[in-house]
Amino acid sequence: MRVIQHLGSRIFRNVLFATTITCLAPTHGHAASGCAPGSTCLSVTGKGVPAPEPAPFIAQCTGAFPDFVTPSAMVPSAGPWFKLSQSYPTAVPANDAPWSNIDFKDGVTGADAYLYALRDYAFDGMIDADFKPEANNVRPWFHMPLMNFGPRAREPMRGLTSERSVTGPELGLKPGVTIHNYAVGFYNAAGAVTIGQVLGGASPDLAKAQFPQGAMTFKILFSDVTANDFQDSDVLSGAPQWTIRTAAGPQTVRLMQMDVAAVDSRSPTGWVFGTFAFDSNATDTSPWRRLRPVGLSWGNDFGFTPADQQAGKKLTETTISDQAPAYAASHLGWAGRANGPVDNPISGCLSCHSTAQLPSAPITFSSACTTDAQKMLWFRDLKGNQPFGGVDASCNPITSAPPPKPLDFSLQLSVAVQNVVQFGDANPCSPSASIMNLRVDDHPGEHPRIAR
Ligand code: HEC
Repeated sequence: MRVIQHLGSRIFRNVLFATTITCLAPTHGHAASGCAPGSTCLSVTGKGVPAPEPAPFIAQCTGAFPDFVTPSAMVPSAGPWFKLSQSYPTAVPANDAPWSNIDFKDGVTGADAYLYALRDYAFDGMIDADFKPEANNVRPWFHMPLMNFGPRAREPMRGLTSERSVTGPELGLKPGVTIHNYAVGFYNAAGAVTIGQVLGGASPDLAKAQFPQGAMTFKILFSDVTANDFQDSDVLSGAPQWTIRTAAGPQTVRLMQMDVAAVDSRSPTGWVFGTFAFDSNATDTSPWRRLRPVGLSWGNDFGFTPADQQAGKKLTETTISDQAPAYAASHLGWAGRANGPVDNPISGCLSCHSTAQLPSAPITFSSACTTDAQKMLWFRDLKGNQPFGGVDASCNPITSAPPPKPLDFSLQLSVAVQNVVQFGDANPCSPSASIMNLRVDDHPGEHPRIAR
């Protein structure tokens, strides 16, 4: 069935019509119409702009924001099809932060207890729901919209986005072997209130990008690594596995890491970030629960250098767990700060996330930054309402007016906002949106695409 639908002219300035393909059944229609039954599929470009058929990309719409915008050939004909959870609430629920009484600064015991409280809260109802928020009866969870463009866009089966790839010998991989990593993040209701306030209107309202107490987000990370890729034994033996869709076809990926982050007023940055790694020696019945804490950070330990680490000094704003599996314990961040197995070792959770702003900043220091003093720019204890600022190609801080808009440690929000504001990607599902009105056209080369 073909329907020509009027999409209005506010967002699509020059193009008033788009072809919609209403999917009646998974096998119905031609190859380009393989989206979820009952959803609306639009023929669009990779930037979300209506395109004549045959569809170069398909946008699946079940709400105001696309579930995915994917090259037609990548859309699975038989599902599952990712559904974006996007009914962002308007009120922060009371008493929905069971970690808030745990003292995360109380050594390894306190840090582990805090991390497990966040993990258990995230898993509550979610393992049974197979991480589909619509099937979780315990509490609602939400996805970040508009992560649909560029080389790391959400794939259509599980909504995973591409993460940093890792090349051996890093992480115990055979030298030269490169593994690809993918992830999907979730925000709880308190966090999703902010998503709705920033992105729910006609144009992004960046002044609203401050997450309330109780906000929490978690991300599960998967890898296409196989047993044979490791120098020694398979550290993901027994890990949960999903099938996703990549440009090369269906791909099996296995759980390696889980990141958690919570707003917490007891932290100097306003946030606590921590991570887990899959432990193949754990014996929990559910393989999801075989994730073990690696560590957490509530600050960046400004001034602490690799030489301090080598001299045996201790970080005061990071705690590393004694439960971390060996491959994760030997893959921490800069000078031992908390970081996960797939993360860039020259960084750390809070360091990288403190760059969240628009226009974007480089998320890690570059090779132009040679001294520890220069690198320390990435290890300030900024708060979420303080912009990171700009850096030039020689690693010198630059002051711009107006200053960049801080995005409170949310790099997913940064990706979403950057897509529509800097790169001009369009929301094909919402005729009324006019998000292209806000553009950052100044020196786009200095504001790299945010990607880890
Ligand atoms: C080198 C940069 C980098 C490092 C280091 C890093 N992240 Fe992220 N993180 C990102 C980017 C970019 C995104 C957004 C895109 C995505 O989801 O992949 C993100 C997304 C997230 C999200 C989803 C919500 C959000 O804020 O966008 C969580 C939670 C998260 N990271 C936690 C962590 C934790 C915990 C660590 C440390 C163990 C960590 N990150 C280390 C770059 C980084």
